[in-house]
Amino acid sequence: MTRTRIHNFSISLDGFATGEGQALEAPFGHAGHRLHAWMIATRFGAPILGHTGGTAGVDDAFAQQHEPRIGAEIMGANKFGPPGWQDDAGWKGWWGPKPPFHTPTFVLTHRPRPSIEMEGGTTFHFLDAAPAEALDAAREAARGADVRIGGGPTVVRDFLAAGLVDHMHVVQVPILLGRGVRVWDGLEGLEANYDVEVVSVPSGVTHLTFDRKPS
Ligand SMILES: NC(=O)c1ccc[n+]([C@@H]2O[C@H](COP(=O)([O-])OP(=O)(O)OC[C@H]3O[C@@H](n4cnc5c(N)ncnc54)[C@H](OP(=O)(O)O)[C@@H]3O)[C@@H](O)[C@H]2O)c1
Repeated sequence: MTRTRIHNFSISLDGFATGEGQALEAPFGHAGHRLHAWMIATRFGAPILGHTGGTAGVDDAFAQQHEPRIGAEIMGANKFGPPGWQDDAGWKGWWGPKPPFHTPTFVLTHRPRPSIEMEGGTTFHFLDAAPAEALDAAREAARGADVRIGGGPTVVRDFLAAGLVDHMHVVQVPILLGRGVRVWDGLEGLEANYDVEVVSVPSGVTHLTFDRKPS
């Protein structure tokens, strides 16, 4: 049975998963790199900013779970590009010619375009579809492996609200963003459907895992 998973999803203490004012020069708006500083410090995350080395402790152990057994990703239009990318026929995402997904990657957008095959195994497909329909397409493409919901917060919230998420790893970062896009709105009582575990680590972040209870 394939699972639908979320990993390394970083939120501020006040529940924002991205800042305000997303732009080409600011993929996370006024949050900058603060939400992901914990991950960039790890062995897993260091290459994201072209660094080498990185820590190999608890943060790294959680971060590494992002990859294994994933056969497809679903992301939102605002993760794929800055506001207005749909007007740029040449926009192929933030990640350069070889994006770090290495699987079919489904971008939810109300303005779909033809698929783009990138280097390294990533093919971007653009879908205007409800979460359950998008998940069906991603599951088929994943050929028996799991599907990752890659964010941003709007898409994560919609998949949680639709009851489609089996495993979620949230990282609470001790910062207050004050503005941006919140993830938890409208999800009152969500925790009742999940076994929740919490680990606080010396880096200052708190890892929360939500595993769907057997029905
Ligand atoms: N904190 C983290 O761990 C994390 C992880 C990933 C991303 N992010 C950040 O989160 C931000 C993006 O999040 P966001 O909440 O603004 O947006 P998002 O979730 O990436 O995308 C939302 C947009 O996707 C399109 N969309 C969503 N569902 C759809 C559906 N069912 N059918 C068709 N189109 C659909 C719509 O765009 P259109 O109507 O324009 O097509 C919608 O406005 C970025 O700053 C990104 O860097 C943070």
